[in-house]
Amino acid sequence: MDLKAMTSASNWHHDATAYSKLEITGTGYLAFKYIPALLEKHQCGNKALDYGCGAGRSTRFLKNLGLDVEGVDVSSEMIAAAVNADDNIPYMVINSAEIPKKDNTYDLVFCSLVLFDISTHNELEKVFNEVHRVLKNGGLFIIITASEHMYVNDWVSLKTDFPENKNLTSGALAKIKIREIDLTLYDYYWTDSDYKDLISDTNFSLVDFLNPLGGEDDGYEWISEKTLSPYGIYVLKK
Ligand SMILES: C[S@@+](CC[C@H](N)C(=O)[O-])C[C@H]1O[C@@H](n2cnc3c(N)ncnc32)[C@H](O)[C@@H]1O
Repeated sequence: MDLKAMTSASNWHHDATAYSKLEITGTGYLAFKYIPALLEKHQCGNKALDYGCGAGRSTRFLKNLGLDVEGVDVSSEMIAAAVNADDNIPYMVINSAEIPKKDNTYDLVFCSLVLFDISTHNELEKVFNEVHRVLKNGGLFIIITASEHMYVNDWVSLKTDFPENKNLTSGALAKIKIREIDLTLYDYYWTDSDYKDLISDTNFSLVDFLNPLGGEDDGYEWISEKTLSPYGIYVLKK
């Protein structure tokens, strides 16, 4: 199999069962740790969409925060795993950048650990524009994605010391292993500057940004997480 064929959605079709066992723990805990505080700070309404919901762990996280949430994903296997875990949440298989909902539907679109699955700036821009369309005016688009530190440091849950990750440039494939579920994946490497370009090429305003770090009280023996953040969290407003 060539490397491209192993990436993005086709990859997730294959790995849905393994991924569905992944909880919000270890390094991944940091991706979600500050989301309740960000939602409190920026105050949006209750109607939410989890874009790229995968096996539904992020959707259930939002439901547990009291949001009225739906999930969409390009992988039917991931959606099947999400429905299996909670069939009270509405889930739908979609095509990339096509959300079959009316304009101005949601108060929040949440997108965790998805954008590094998308291979081109053009496709990312289509996703941003489609999210913009379905958000209400003043609605929030919260993105959790990999930071530039992700692929060149060692983390509690993520092994990254692979030759592929030397001298990464935008759009290149980075290799990463999720230790908890023994799953090796390829992500597209995008920099903070790539994300800032996307924001300025679309109609969003950047209202907050965070690199979540590990703390003493998290209950983990952090490796790089206390000084470097594997994630960037962008809070955009329509
Ligand atoms: C790493 S999983 C993250 C799942 C979930 N958000 C979470 O935090 O656990 C990435 C998901 O993004 C989905 N995905 C990839 N490209 C997508 C696209 N263009 N549009 C929607 N979903 C996409 C994949 O099918 C996969 O389920």
